[in-house]
Amino acid sequence: MSDKILAPGSHDEFGETLVQKQQICHVISTTLNAKNFTAINTPLIERESVFEQYQQGNVFHLRDQVGENLVLRPDLTLPIARFLSSKVQQEKTHQFYYIGDVFRRTNYLSGEYNQETQAGIELIGDASFNAEMAALDIMLDFAQQFGIADVQVVISDTRLIDRVLNTLDISKIEQAALKQAIEDKNMTAFDKIQRTIKNFPENLKRWPLAFGEDGETVMWQLQDLPEVNDIVERWLQLAAFIHERYPDVAVTVDLAASSPQAYYTGTIIRGFVPSLGRYLFSGGRYDSLLENFQNQQLPAVGMGLNIDTIMADWRREAVDHKPVEPIVVVLAKGRVEQATRPLLKSAGIDTTPLDNPERKLIFDSPDGIYRFILVKPEDVVKYLDRGIGDIGIVGSDTIAEQIQNHFDVLDLQTGQANFVLAAPRHFNIAGLQRQRIATKYPRVAGQYFAKRGEDVELIKLSGSVELGPLTGLADAIIDITQTGNTLRENNLVIYDTVGRVSTHLLVRQGALLQFQSELKQVIDNLITRLSQKK
Ligand code: PRP
Repeated sequence: MSDKILAPGSHDEFGETLVQKQQICHVISTTLNAKNFTAINTPLIERESVFEQYQQGNVFHLRDQVGENLVLRPDLTLPIARFLSSKVQQEKTHQFYYIGDVFRRTNYLSGEYNQETQAGIELIGDASFNAEMAALDIMLDFAQQFGIADVQVVISDTRLIDRVLNTLDISKIEQAALKQAIEDKNMTAFDKIQRTIKNFPENLKRWPLAFGEDGETVMWQLQDLPEVNDIVERWLQLAAFIHERYPDVAVTVDLAASSPQAYYTGTIIRGFVPSLGRYLFSGGRYDSLLENFQNQQLPAVGMGLNIDTIMADWRREAVDHKPVEPIVVVLAKGRVEQATRPLLKSAGIDTTPLDNPERKLIFDSPDGIYRFILVKPEDVVKYLDRGIGDIGIVGSDTIAEQIQNHFDVLDLQTGQANFVLAAPRHFNIAGLQRQRIATKYPRVAGQYFAKRGEDVELIKLSGSVELGPLTGLADAIIDITQTGNTLRENNLVIYDTVGRVSTHLLVRQGALLQFQSELKQVIDNLITRLSQKK
């Protein structure tokens, strides 16, 4: 076969799909031109330094003829900040809009695209709350123009978590750990720390899940807290504005949201389409962005519109008439699935079809609420990240090797095992030769040896890792052990315990909003069951 084929992660656009995209871009530019926004098109190739402060390691690098480090732009807001940083551009208030492609390296062979068309607006120079309202107004107007019926506005604030945590009598380390757990919606980690804190406020005990209806309940309880009442006041203002101008649009708050980008400084506003489980728009205030390019502060509000979501909505209307989608549970088949099934059942998920799976891989629960898919452990996250699965159930050993774009909500405490360093007797890590370590878990192993300052050669195997030292392929292994039988039978001894392993419940980010009440109920039931087991 010819090698003149597409690179992984890229695709051609042509025909009807491209025409649709052109139509969408036409509506965006016509609307914003009429509103006196200035169109801006920045180069595809920029200096690396424009992005380096916020770059997340997923950028395509290039080098020019004199050795300067360049990148394919991964974002469109930072180039506009770069543009504005020249004094000439800053003389008056600006309203910009852009439509262009951004490039991000994706996980190899993940099926994700590395190029995406983004459209968005930037309102520069307006420090008042009018800028947030104006930006939101434009986005909701687009939702109407594009015929997207079920947009839900989710409001949050990048300052909220810190402000509330500051009112508690806890250390900086506890604060940072709690914040991380809240933003990751990791109930297990949150609970563990929260339990150690005396007089932790009752109304914040489910903080990672404080969004939607629960978020509003907590918001009302926090309303009078002086540290946050300006934030709540703004949320109420925004909600009143939406109700008045767009009475059909639902508004909700998220008290556990993380900042979409590190440069956000205040209100975050997102437009979620529950029936698609994805965002239509997202943005907020970032008043300090320009400080990174010059010494001066410049208030700014920006919002991006997701063209792919509009296209997904149009596509769905053409082909899909199913009123209610089931919640898709992706289970790692084998040990994980078998050990977790009783727990899921006790949490109210009807797993009966899994009792006699035969060779089938996809099953619907009798009540039609859940669909189960059985996959190899390594593929669970792929189904979640590609938007197919809503809940994932898989061992933390597998999760540790993969990029996390989902919420790791609960440790289900089943499938417990240990990551260990094991080898034949007389193994000496400090031997003169560089030691060869066989493992299915190169990331976990790499982190372990890096932390210990030991330089080893890792050998990735797909299974039967114990064979490594027995055949001379490796000197030792990093693997999981549960009963210890496999190690014993192969004359290997444990030299160190690297970490704990257990089955976790993952949730796709969009699914948590899409199936709010069902999933919160399941999570609550699981927490209750797990605490009874202790
Ligand atoms: C895992 C692990 C060990 C074994 C440990 O392998 O890699 O080989 O289980 O379990 P034990 O301590 O209870 O004996 P798995 O069964 O997943 O198969 P694999 O070796 O093909 O990866």
